[in-house]
Amino acid sequence: MKIAPSVLTADFTDLKHELESIDHADFIHLDIMDGHFVPNLSFGPSIAESIRRRTALPLDIHLMVTDPLHWIDGFALPGTAIITIHTEANDTAKTIAAIRDKGIGVGLSIKPGTPVTALEPWLHEAALVLVMTVEPGFGGQAFMPDMLDKVRTLVKLRKEKNLMYQIEVDGGINDVTIKACREAGVDIAVVGSYLFDQKDRKAVIRRLRG
Ligand code: DX5
Ligand code: ZN
Repeated sequence: MKIAPSVLTADFTDLKHELESIDHADFIHLDIMDGHFVPNLSFGPSIAESIRRRTALPLDIHLMVTDPLHWIDGFALPGTAIITIHTEANDTAKTIAAIRDKGIGVGLSIKPGTPVTALEPWLHEAALVLVMTVEPGFGGQAFMPDMLDKVRTLVKLRKEKNLMYQIEVDGGINDVTIKACREAGVDIAVVGSYLFDQKDRKAVIRRLRG
């Protein structure tokens, strides 16, 4: 299981050391929120750029914004591996094309209330599918186990259609909930508050990787 720490709950007054403490994870997950698509505001391209300058890890950028097309240029940084958009947001097809034109992996995400069928028109273009296991907008929420049915469906679809996307979960992941995620077939787990609440983060990441 790959681990993508979400810096949303990191100490932004000490970002350099916070990033060093997770420097052997697999990705850094950046939660970008516009205060409209989700009821919270996080940070923009300039903070993402300063994070990029302080880590060698690939960036896994999660756009929880109504108009992701507007933000692709700003987040297409040298270290950006994936830009994930929500299919509930605007201009999915155009935004997928804009991400691909930058040579960046396309991520598609659905909120808890959105069925997997909403992804189907674009699954063949996805490098990653992000199944939200909390209502997006905040760290520290409780894991929603029912969402793992979507993971099992996506594992099946990937095999049936011979597709290549990685399956990621995001929200409420800890050393207990990650076990059910692994059994369901998750490839990458985003971990925020559980990781940043701990001192020895290197040990926690090792444990979560399994
Ligand atoms: C929620 C974000 C998640 C969140 C994860 O909208 O997309 O990445 O920060 O945080 P935890 O692991 O604390 O649930
Ligand atoms: Zn996220």
